[in-house]
Amino acid sequence: MCKDLFDKRIGIIGAGNIGLSVALKLLEKGFSRDNLSLSYNASIFTFERLYDNDLVDCISSNSRIVDECDVILLCVPPQRFKEIGDFGLDDSKLVVSFMAAISIDDIISQCGTSNVVRVIPTGPDSIRDSRAVAACYPSCDLSDELFGVLDFDCYTFDCEDDLDYMVIAGCLPAVFCVADPSVSDNRDDICRFGRDFPVFVEIASKCEDLVPRESGDDFVSSVATGGGVTEAILSGLDSGKSLYESLCDGLERNEELSK
Ligand SMILES: NC(=O)c1ccc[n+]([C@@H]2O[C@H](COP(=O)([O-])OP(=O)(O)OC[C@H]3O[C@@H](n4cnc5c(N)ncnc54)[C@H](OP(=O)(O)O)[C@@H]3O)[C@@H](O)[C@H]2O)c1
Repeated sequence: MCKDLFDKRIGIIGAGNIGLSVALKLLEKGFSRDNLSLSYNASIFTFERLYDNDLVDCISSNSRIVDECDVILLCVPPQRFKEIGDFGLDDSKLVVSFMAAISIDDIISQCGTSNVVRVIPTGPDSIRDSRAVAACYPSCDLSDELFGVLDFDCYTFDCEDDLDYMVIAGCLPAVFCVADPSVSDNRDDICRFGRDFPVFVEIASKCEDLVPRESGDDFVSSVATGGGVTEAILSGLDSGKSLYESLCDGLERNEELSK
């Protein structure tokens, strides 16, 4: 089982919160560290985390990952995607993007290969705990294997635009640290938000289980990518907006990032 994936070389571009969690989960599941490469953007803090997790040997560069790996996982913030540059890949390579907001068309035009899958998981803690809920579009055998190895409870959506709802759902464990989902106004807001996409309510309910018992600032900061969608939702709540209005702010931020 999973033999195909375990024979591949996997490169993670962006060894931040999500990239690191994915790397650690792959190694925990028996993936060979010789076949795993990671890049980052020179932050000392990230280097220390890689060092602490015994991953220094896996550090590589974006260009080597692009040249050497069969499966490339994009885990940089959406705002940084353009600066990574063109990859010039052929269709033998699979790109799996964990990025919010950046469309498959944009990824294809920058990466070259037309083998692109997008996946939006809940945060890094849920990946490390094998409890992540995720949605992907489209599906392919290799990415399905990857999500299986990562223990994702993964929905395959029929349409890429629906991933915008998963971007919002992915923020909910952090959002629920601030807006209690058992309060009836908040519950109503979740149902209202999910009117156009009913599975959102089901996913939101799974996200309630991902709220840490001691919901600390560390948890919220690990899921709130700087300038990202979670941050937009939390700042809406902070300014006194309702949960519904704040989730709409998140959608708006997602839309801005896609440009
Ligand atoms: N956090 C979540 O809960 C969550 C959930 C679903 C999807 N996502 C998506 O996952 C992606 C990563 O989120 P995150 O929270 O892991 O962000 P993060 O912690 O800020 O990590 C981003 C990583 O990208 C690296 N990076 C930036 N520019 C780079 C470049 N030019 N080349 C190589 N690496 C570069 C950064 O390097 P340095 O460390 O050196 O700065 C950092 O390690 C985002 O696109 C986000 O939309 C996140």
